[in-house]
Amino acid sequence: MTIQQERPAQQERPTQDRLAWGYRYVKVEPSHFRVEYQINPFMDPADQPDPVRARAQWDALVATIESLGGRVDVIGQREDAPDMVYAMNLGLGVETADGRPHVVMSHMRYPQRRMETGSAEAWFLANGFTTSYVGRDGVGAHFEAGDAFAFGDALVVGYGPRTEELGLKHLAKDLDIRVRGFRITHPGMYHLDLAFCPLSPTRAIVCPAAFDDASAAALLAQVPEPLVITEEEALTTFCANSIVIGSTVVMPACPDRVRARLEDWGFEVVVVDVSEFHKGGGSIRCMTNPVDLRIGRDLAQVPGGEVVLP
Ligand code: ARG
Repeated sequence: MTIQQERPAQQERPTQDRLAWGYRYVKVEPSHFRVEYQINPFMDPADQPDPVRARAQWDALVATIESLGGRVDVIGQREDAPDMVYAMNLGLGVETADGRPHVVMSHMRYPQRRMETGSAEAWFLANGFTTSYVGRDGVGAHFEAGDAFAFGDALVVGYGPRTEELGLKHLAKDLDIRVRGFRITHPGMYHLDLAFCPLSPTRAIVCPAAFDDASAAALLAQVPEPLVITEEEALTTFCANSIVIGSTVVMPACPDRVRARLEDWGFEVVVVDVSEFHKGGGSIRCMTNPVDLRIGRDLAQVPGGEVVLP
């Protein structure tokens, strides 16, 4: 790890073209990370991650986030949950308008991952969060965090491969927010965070190839200044699966063209190699769950909720 300059997060927050969230993360320690089954096209049980390299990459990511003024809390990994390292998928952190930390827990599509949320929920409850599930009052729906990010006037949600369309209604109603849904059709971009990354209140990385035509057009229309990436860039570099801490974008790789645009916009790019985690089909965003999104600040309150589909 190279030494990073200390930049206190507080100094960066007031700027209008920076995200106010993305300073506090939850990660899961990779003590039992394996590729044991195949629930996305990247996973091949014949190609296992090297545990020592994975651990070193994971440590480097924590060190990078901390050097940028971010906070990382760590949940232990269940031995029977090899994918739990993709902490993004455990739940959607949303502080209520009055500052109460809350997490909407995921209801995973595949049974192989369902036990993860129970353990994560226990951790959140023990650490000052309240929790809920979407639509648990009778009609459950699959919802996987990683499919939902605040952007503009709404929670932008990708549905199809993992999150179900019904989940959008529940999210909007349960949280009193506007949800804008976009249908994901690409099997390799099975979570929204492989194709969409909010960079600032008006800028985001977008890979239109992940969505059906109407959703791709609608999502592009939602982003005043999109940084459009190709299918190939998304799938081979995982560059949309990045996180943003103030004016720094922490990325698994950065094509020159993407870097030029980011730097032009005043961002600094820091690349952290997490290639061992690509074997399970996830990268930097998948490994880090931001829990400091706030309703009323980052997401407008819409009493009763509202769902907008293309
Ligand atoms: N193997 C995991 C799965 O298929 C990878 C999850 C990647 N996470 C993400 N936020 N995209 O569920």
